[in-house]
Amino acid sequence: MKVKDKVLKILNENKETYLSGEELANRIGVSRTAVWKAIKALNDEGYAISAINKLGYRMSKGDDVISVTGIGQYLPTNLADTVKIEVYKTITSTNTVLKQKASDDASEWLILIAEEQTEGRGRMNRKFYSPSDTGIYMSVLLRPDCHVTQALFITTMTAVAVAETLDEIFDADTKIKWVNDIYYDNKKICGILTEAAVNVETSKLDYAVVGIGINVKEPKDNFPDEIKDIAGSMTGLELQKDINDNLRNRIVAKIVEKMYDYYKELNNHQFMGKYKEKSMLIGKDVYILTDENKENLHVTDIDDEAGLVVRHDDGRVEHLKSGEVSVRIKE
Ligand code: BTN
Repeated sequence: MKVKDKVLKILNENKETYLSGEELANRIGVSRTAVWKAIKALNDEGYAISAINKLGYRMSKGDDVISVTGIGQYLPTNLADTVKIEVYKTITSTNTVLKQKASDDASEWLILIAEEQTEGRGRMNRKFYSPSDTGIYMSVLLRPDCHVTQALFITTMTAVAVAETLDEIFDADTKIKWVNDIYYDNKKICGILTEAAVNVETSKLDYAVVGIGINVKEPKDNFPDEIKDIAGSMTGLELQKDINDNLRNRIVAKIVEKMYDYYKELNNHQFMGKYKEKSMLIGKDVYILTDENKENLHVTDIDDEAGLVVRHDDGRVEHLKSGEVSVRIKE
């Protein structure tokens, strides 16, 4: 563990308590200058560590800065060498920047995370509202040995990883809305956008960039009018301080851990059982968003290709493909 990691760990374990530079130095077994440098680096990462003459350094409760060091403290040790994380205060879009890095030969499991996106994107060229400090905007670079026709399973495996993470951390029961959205309390709290480059000779993926956007807390300026009826967050503005502690770092680390595990099932799709269990649509009546007549379709299943199986009122059964249609639940 680096000095910085050790300092952060001790301050985290002693929140609201001042620890002198000397005490930290002794506990870690380094010089006071090394401690001072580590504190400076942590402050540069965004931590508000207060320093008072003669008393020392203190971390407040309720601190929720996304940082490489903070995420590292919750990642399983076997992933520490595999995963490389970069955190940005602000970025255009983590997907856009990561795609560029992927074309420049970046390795699998490079993960970009931002506190804010100025050009966050969703599916179908929609904007993804990405205000600062309340969400998680992250993109993961994968290089699976995967035929282009199987690429959709990268999105579904990620949906399971995210939904399970949120359920565990918030003791919630989130739902996956086919194919790439996660809902909590009937509000969309997460969207997933997978973008890929294909080797035209083999029809296999060269890389996939999986973008995950989560509204963890309510945005400070609320959601914009155009999405305020659909979008929600996992928590209200008033978070219990204990839950808020390192909240987003814990969420990111757990998502990465779960994605890493489900990635091993990418070719046999075992995670699809869980995807179906968490489906928001199976058993519901829906209509296709672009259908002016809003024809009633009853969702009976999700098929082996992650298509939505629907039954028309006249008994016909159809398998809908996610790239072609978006559906809404009938009220
Ligand atoms: C959707 O709702 O249609 C998908 C939204 C995906 C948003 C994430 S946030 C991180 C990554 N960067 C982006 O620009 N988009 C994805």
